[in-house]
Amino acid sequence: MGQEADSLLNDVKTARASFEQEIAQVDTPEQLDQLRIKYLGRKGAVAGFFSRLPKLDPAERPAAGNAINQLKQFVTKAIEEKKRSLGSTGPRKPVFDASLPGTPFRIGSRHPLLQVLDEIVDIFASMGFSVETGPEIERDYYNFEALNIPPDHPSRDLQDTFYLEGDKLLRTHTSPVQIRTMEKQRPPVRMIAPGRCFRKDTPDATHSPTFHQVEGLCVDKNVTFADLKGVILAFAQKLFGKDVRIRFRPSFFPFTEPSAEYDFSCPMCGGKGCRVCKYTGWLEISGAGMVDPAVFGFVDYDPEVYTGYAFGMGVERIAMLKHMIGDIRLFYENDIRFLSQF
Ligand code: PHE
Repeated sequence: MGQEADSLLNDVKTARASFEQEIAQVDTPEQLDQLRIKYLGRKGAVAGFFSRLPKLDPAERPAAGNAINQLKQFVTKAIEEKKRSLGSTGPRKPVFDASLPGTPFRIGSRHPLLQVLDEIVDIFASMGFSVETGPEIERDYYNFEALNIPPDHPSRDLQDTFYLEGDKLLRTHTSPVQIRTMEKQRPPVRMIAPGRCFRKDTPDATHSPTFHQVEGLCVDKNVTFADLKGVILAFAQKLFGKDVRIRFRPSFFPFTEPSAEYDFSCPMCGGKGCRVCKYTGWLEISGAGMVDPAVFGFVDYDPEVYTGYAFGMGVERIAMLKHMIGDIRLFYENDIRFLSQF
């Protein structure tokens, strides 16, 4: 064996022996780190041995390299073990520090749309209206026919309906709940029906293919249009304050006669005219009217004895007004930055 190889192997052996002695003395992580640098560092003993390899006879290099690698592995393993026994790595013992502040976590909140819906429902409940529900997948009969909208009526086109198999469709309004309620209940009826509706609208700032309505229906002896106006006014004032005014404009719906659309004075500008009401001072809410006697025919109510009023309203519209929200799509995007403001 060449002299170089001989002395290298000797040094490796000596290094291992002194390492074993030194690591036995170590009792802090800092000392251990110094030892690691001494042997495994860039300028450490192991690196030094490797740098001597090129001077060896090529035939002797593999054996010498092997010896250095063994030293390296031995040192690495011993340091790892020592580290663990010193407790500087590995699973730490859990330390409970009662003085640390707790981890804050965000409390969820009710969706702004549902908050407004709750408010609307509460107001009508306080006026003695019961809450009814109906299916979102509805039959043609309830969504159109029994509401006096015959198969060839143009309002079926206007409604831009999502049709499903057979006679099923996604309800385009909450009015079918009027029929379902009257079918199962004799007068007097005083109910509201909150729920989701669907229309084939292209989404933009004020349109969405899904939206929410609250339907209202009151049927009894001697119910008049004046009762309708009184209920709508009371509702408007509870929602937007005493100063709000209402107005009814003549309109047409196949299931009410006479029919109207009703507006609230703009709660933003008090009716003076602003951007929200497009300088008209009024905001359209929805339709209403006296139940058409033809509708009573479908549910076997005697139109000679009973009269009734019905109204609808768009929940998104009202929520947008209440909270000055400029785009209806915000309600459906589940963006936490939007939702956490309510
Ligand atoms: N269902 C009508 C609509 O969606 C609103 C309405 C309800 C009109 C009740 C009159 C009576 O436009």
